[in-house]
Parts: sequence; structure tokens; C-alpha cells
Amino acid sequence: MAIKGRADRPEDIIRAAELLLAGQLVAFPTETVYGLGADATSGPAVAAIFGAKQRPAFNPLISHLADAGSVEAFALWNEAARALAQAFWPGALTLVLPRREHCAIAHIACAGLNSVALRVPSHPAAHALLAATGRPIAAPSANRSGRISPTTAAHVALELGDEVALILDGGPCDIGLESTVVGFHRERPVLLRPGGIAVEQLRVVVGAVEVAVAAPAAPSAPGQLTSHYAPDKPLRLNAREAAPGEILLGFGPGSTAEHNLSPSGDLIEAAARLFAMLRRLDLGPGETIAVAPIPDHGLGRAINDRLQRAAAPRI
Ligand code: TXA
Ligand code: MG
Repeated sequence: MAIKGRADRPEDIIRAAELLLAGQLVAFPTETVYGLGADATSGPAVAAIFGAKQRPAFNPLISHLADAGSVEAFALWNEAARALAQAFWPGALTLVLPRREHCAIAHIACAGLNSVALRVPSHPAAHALLAATGRPIAAPSANRSGRISPTTAAHVALELGDEVALILDGGPCDIGLESTVVGFHRERPVLLRPGGIAVEQLRVVVGAVEVAVAAPAAPSAPGQLTSHYAPDKPLRLNAREAAPGEILLGFGPGSTAEHNLSPSGDLIEAAARLFAMLRRLDLGPGETIAVAPIPDHGLGRAINDRLQRAAAPRI
């Protein structure tokens, strides 16, 4: 089993940094979800992430940086990307940019693409770890491929406890959904995955943002794979009430369901609770999880994206 460390203890951060620099895997908290980290400049270390998660090798990873100033070492900026970074970094935004020549991030982290996904996280422990290693840290969500993303250290231990050297415990994640992923391969910025920063917020900064259309045969982001974020139980969406054998997950003040993502109808609260709630309902009574309709604006768009993939047919 993994050693546990505390994200607010400097000696545990140093221990984690030493393990990363030695090529080991370390799980750490971010403001979105827990990440399964490796030194992004080491091909073998990054390969271990794919092994531990059983993640398909065509699905590229996000590399985390301590600050926006480090982007230039790895990627080519453009004007819209700079504006978004200025507005939302550190934070729940990932920019997919062209790889710079001699970029030190291992090709396997980018699944061989000539683009690289970069994010500057705001969580103090993530920042401390990045500063202590002085390296970019590749980190997907710390769950087995296709399953519910972890928002507590206990979730990570359940998913990957045997695969990581150390788990840094920083308590529950504030946002609870992965970062918003934006690409720049077209004239306008393209939303590749809705996430912790709402597309409406992006549009305030850069005007029009295209929304990528899912192409299951050739996903450009894993969120576009059919089944993802999946509990063991099947999900039924847009449920007004529970059918026999179902457990209902409600939303908002109008719901009488025993479990409610946000009794006050707050989408930010609902996002923060979504993954932990799905895990809890997966373990409790009922054969199917029925989920009430969630408004499709703001963070609701990212919540609905995750729910649709969790409800998608399993392969
Ligand atoms: O909030 C987050 O983003 C978390 C925390 C740990 O930072 N990380 C995360 O990583 O969600 P992961 O691996 O589960 O999702 C990475 C997403 C995927 O949708 C992937 O396809 C996309 O980023 N991505 C990465 N590199 C890409 C690239 N070069 N081109 C297109 N999409 C890319
Ligand atoms: Mg993930």
C-alpha cells in the first residue's frame, strides 16, 4: 500500500518531490480532482502512469507547471491562450498548445501528438510540489481508466493504493470536476472538455469559443470516449422520480429525494459533490442510480458531460 503524507506538511512535500524525481508515482491534491503524478520529462515515469491507470496509450496527459512563465520552455503561445492563462491561471483551465522544438516533456505524455496540454493549478500543495521538483508534472485524474475521478485521498487509495508510492492528503477538492480543456488548432479556441471553468467565463475573455463535436472513432480528448467516469451501477438520467430498484439523486429545492447534489440548487456545490455522491450511491442500496435533470449552463454543462459519459453503454 502507498505511504500517506499530508499536503500541508513541508517535509511530506519534499518526500513527494524526491519520489517524483526518482521516477516514482505520487498522488496529490489539486483544486479540481486528485492527480496521479509523474515527472513529465521522464518517459519511463510517464509510462508507469499509463500502466497504473490501465489507460489507453493514445490518450494524452496534462502536464502541470508552477507558473505561466514556464510555458515558453515547452510550447508556443498564441494571443487567445495568453489571455485565457492571464484570466484563469492558476486554476481549472488546461491549454492545448503546439509543442516547442526540443520540448523536454516526454512524447509519451502527449501520446505522440505535436501538441501539449498544460495547466498551472492553484492548489497550494500542487504548487509546492511543482516548485520543489522544478519539473513539469504529468498527472491525469488518479483513478483507473474509465472510472469515477477521485476528490479525496481515500478515493485514490481505493483506486490506486497499490500503484502509487505516496498519496498526499489535502482533504476534499474544492471544485470536484476536472479542468476545462481548450485547444487552439482552429481559428477560434475550441472547448475540448467542459470543466471547472464554465465556457461562459471563457467567452467573456476571448469572445467566441467553438465546442468540439464528439467523434468516438478518433477522440481528441478522453472525455469524448463513450463510457467514462462510470460507477459500477448503471445510471438513468433526467429522472423525475425513482422507479422500483432505483436510488434517486436529486437536485435543487424542488426535489424530495433522500440524496441531493445541492438542496439549494447551486451548481458549484453540485459539481463539488458529484463524484463523491456517485461513489456513495454505488455502494448503497438500489440497482440503478437515477439522476434528476441538472440545468445545462455554467458548471451544469460539465456536470451533464460527466453524467452522460457515466450513463453511456459500457464496453
Ligand atoms: O483537472 C484536471 O484536468 C485533472 C487534474 C489532475 O489536473 N487532470 C485530468 O487529466 O483530468 P486527464 O488525463 O484525466 O484528462 C486530460 C484531458 C483529456 O481529455 C485528454 O484527452 C486531454 O486532456 N488532452 C491532453 N493532451 C491533449 C492533447 N495534446 N490534445 C488534445 N487533448 C489533450
Ligand atoms: Mg480522468
